[in-house]
Amino acid sequence: TDAHTAGPFIAAIDQGTTSSRCIVFDKDGRIVSVDQKEHEQIFPKPGWVEHNAIEIWANVQEVVAGAVAKAGITRADVKAIGITNQRETTLLWDRTTGEPVHNAIVWQDTRTDALCRELGRNVGQDRFRRETGLPLASYFAGPKVRWLLDNVEGLRERAERGDILFGTMDSWVIWNLTGGVDGGVHVTDVTNASRTMLMNLHTMAWDDKILTSMEVPAALLPEIRSSSEVYGTAKGGALDGVPVASALGDQQAALFGQTCFSEGEAKSTYGTGTFMLMNTGGTPVNSYNGLLTTVGYRIGDQDPVYALEGSIAVTGSLVQWMRDQMGLIKSAAEIETLALSVEDNGGAYVVPAFSGLFAPYWRSDARGVIAGLTRYVTKAHIARAVLEATAWQTREITDAMTKDSGVELTALKVDGGMTSNNLLMQTLSDVLDAPVVRPMVAETTCLGAAYAAGLAVGFWPDTDALRANWRRAAEWTPRMDADRRQREYKNWLKAVERTMGWIE
Ligand code: G3P
Repeated sequence: TDAHTAGPFIAAIDQGTTSSRCIVFDKDGRIVSVDQKEHEQIFPKPGWVEHNAIEIWANVQEVVAGAVAKAGITRADVKAIGITNQRETTLLWDRTTGEPVHNAIVWQDTRTDALCRELGRNVGQDRFRRETGLPLASYFAGPKVRWLLDNVEGLRERAERGDILFGTMDSWVIWNLTGGVDGGVHVTDVTNASRTMLMNLHTMAWDDKILTSMEVPAALLPEIRSSSEVYGTAKGGALDGVPVASALGDQQAALFGQTCFSEGEAKSTYGTGTFMLMNTGGTPVNSYNGLLTTVGYRIGDQDPVYALEGSIAVTGSLVQWMRDQMGLIKSAAEIETLALSVEDNGGAYVVPAFSGLFAPYWRSDARGVIAGLTRYVTKAHIARAVLEATAWQTREITDAMTKDSGVELTALKVDGGMTSNNLLMQTLSDVLDAPVVRPMVAETTCLGAAYAAGLAVGFWPDTDALRANWRRAAEWTPRMDADRRQREYKNWLKAVERTMGWIE
């Protein structure tokens, strides 16, 4: 990938759940260089997940310098920087020292489960759904902010005095990139703000009523901007002086990178978790089947584009768990070889409800199970069940999408790291009973951030120019017979039932 193409270029930074990366793209949307660095996953208690934001910012600076060096270019060749990020992960920091007041609380963390139940008491999980498109669940940022304010000694007073800033990782990266304590801009974009549970989807502004109910002082909050505009310029570092011109949550960035610009177009990204988003145009569509209503993107001062989302908390991270916690495989890639050594799952089903169950259930009290075990089952059967878990979870989401949108799935556009697993892609097509299609650039998250940044500075003229870059690389078609599909789906749903009610 480290080939020399003619400039100019756009650099995209993806601050993800397990790593930070920077990719340099050329005008055809081709990858010129990539640099990536993992950061530590901190698990202080069962259900808790944290990141060290200082480590993350250091890694971001390193991969930006790395990608620029590998491309063999200078900052003068880079026309804009785009930002994309793991969503919902919540950080509070001191505006005068730049010091985080606590580790970032990661989106997978379930510590706010009881708080969310308390907020929904007598009213139910949908208390803020009309305003925010989201059910009360530990996944979202707002309750995490409240938890920090309630649990870090003296923090609420400091926050009310205006000394503390809140941000998801987009805000943290942009603030630091544009100077930090020395004039850094404190902003977020509409897509990231839509995951806080504090923004009103209809007005695109922080919702005072919810801020009061959630006891979050407005002084903490970043300014909400569009996803594609110049927020400021980088100060220092490898891209000193380059405009910072986009921000999108990673899943929305992938929607953009897959060029799903028309109503009804959808994509599913297979990373740590899996997230399917469908463009619903200028209207926020309510879900009655467990999906989220969210902002897809907003280009400058154009009208916002909304999306329906099916979120799955655990897919790639289940494979990592097999490798790191269970030691059943040595590398993530090995899962495919192991799974291919047997014909089927041997009757076993793995439901990875590690962070509770997300869509379509939204049950924070769920915990993972392995069901259907007999003495016959080997680790190879478990490997198969692990891959099937990703496929069946997707099936549940596409079923909900069809019910909510009335749009029948004709093919699924996929991307993300797990799409290099051929067996998984075949299984996915089998259980969906629909073709699965992968584009040439599977790094659609970074590509989407680059596209949005490029549009903001006139590097690309319009979204039609971006569509022209989309090229099909691979396609899988269904091979499973209908009886087997039905039987397996029933067994999967039975296993899902076993996950619920573990936490009182
Ligand atoms: O909502 C969480 C999502 O943004 C995380 O994405 O790709 O870092 O697992 P990823």
